[in-house]
Amino acid sequence: MSFKLVLSLVFLIEFYTFVYTRKLIMSETASINLNGKTLELSVITGTENEKAIDISKLRDQSGYITLDPGFKNTGATKSAITFLDGEKGILKYRGYKIEELAEKSTFLEVAYLLIYGELPSKQVLEKFRSDIKGQMMVHEDMKNFFAGFPSKSHPMGQLSCLVGALSAFYPESLNPNQNEEEEYQTIVNLIGKMPTIVSWIQKKSLGHPVVYPKKDLGYIDNFMNMIFGEVNCDKIFDDAVLDAMRVLLILHADHEQNCSASTVRIVGSSNANLYASISAGINALWGPLHGGANQAVIEMLEDIKKDGGDVEKYLAKAKDKNDPFRLMGFGHRVYKNFDPRAKIIKKAADEVLEKLGVQDPVLDIAKGLEQAALSDQYFIDRKLYPNVDFYSGIIYRALGFNAEMFTVLFALGRLPGWIAQWKEMRDNKEPIGRPRQVYTGEVDREYVDLENR
Ligand code: ACO
Repeated sequence: MSFKLVLSLVFLIEFYTFVYTRKLIMSETASINLNGKTLELSVITGTENEKAIDISKLRDQSGYITLDPGFKNTGATKSAITFLDGEKGILKYRGYKIEELAEKSTFLEVAYLLIYGELPSKQVLEKFRSDIKGQMMVHEDMKNFFAGFPSKSHPMGQLSCLVGALSAFYPESLNPNQNEEEEYQTIVNLIGKMPTIVSWIQKKSLGHPVVYPKKDLGYIDNFMNMIFGEVNCDKIFDDAVLDAMRVLLILHADHEQNCSASTVRIVGSSNANLYASISAGINALWGPLHGGANQAVIEMLEDIKKDGGDVEKYLAKAKDKNDPFRLMGFGHRVYKNFDPRAKIIKKAADEVLEKLGVQDPVLDIAKGLEQAALSDQYFIDRKLYPNVDFYSGIIYRALGFNAEMFTVLFALGRLPGWIAQWKEMRDNKEPIGRPRQVYTGEVDREYVDLENR
């Protein structure tokens, strides 16, 4: 057979395979039978073969809506940022495996990848880094907020307030039609200022003077120096500490349409500015069922330790339907096998504690609890595994953060993901987010005057 003939055959096979699979994808439909009328709904297939029934015209065609509290089965958008397969425990940012990014990449490289879709070239990354570094200083007037916060204010309340307040300092961000360059400036401004704001929250909570960003330090070094350093004195950090921080920030950088990302998208869909949208995301993250779980886990482990370390007692409480106690750091809406981030974090926790020579009895309790839960039928039946928050607090604690700061650190890591979700929603010109409801309240009541009630 000549080379040309082989080539033509290969081409024909490729062509027919392509046409056949495209046809299958395009011709797949779902039908709904409503009161004897059949509606054909098209099926959308994602690049990782995820399937969705397109109901966007359902109400127009039938008068019906779908009902799905907690959006357990509802796709709110098509997104090209993060893919996760909860059954197989796979997480990828823009097609790159989380394990590989956590091993080889830097946080700002991952941030660029998430927001702009591609790994940056050396030159582009250098510019991105330098633009961010140039924005790390925060307006001195922002310090006045701290005079108004009560001394016991939770860091997350302060963070959402301070990030929202940036829109007052940068009114140009209020323009919903910023061009690409203006939007880039807003993005690097926020990424640059976030570590400074987080460090000020920590310093102010201790009553210490704030430390300013330094031109000769990188993003993570600068952050750690502003958190733990003193005025006019650079603190030298162990490489293991900086590396643990890098890994934690990368692992938290995005997680597709979770509670806070969906919040950022929905707030942004009203054309609210980036700072306001991220501030809303910070509030959504705060709850203990979401990012606030990392603080709740360490408090739970501390309670178990104080109570004699009996993990079985707490497992029984978690299984008891009359007890509101839940095993914090366990379970996930999407992961039903294992959370790949938790695997990496567990290893990092072991390494950091060993390198820093920290003996933390809470780590032993965490390991005991995990072992016991993983072999317990209740947790097996419900596919409940440790999530990202189960071990992250142990590392944060070993690095010297207090528990109330843990969720703030999560927010620092999640920032690029939120920005990417906000930007994608805007670039796709998505409509304002506005779910419907099934009304179950009273119908047509007569108003009764106050004296007659
Ligand atoms: N401890 C004990 N039981 C649990 C737990 C837990 N941590 N998580 C879920 N269950 C049980 C539920 O009681 C329910 O049991 P049932 O079927 O007998 O009624 C079943 O497992 C399913 O749980 P749901 O609450 O329906 O699952 P959902 O997807 O709505 O919630 C969530 C997921 C919120 C993460 C939940 O597992 C939880 O509360 N975990 C603890 C908090 C936590 O760690 N959150 C961090 C998540 S990761 C992140 O956001 C960064």
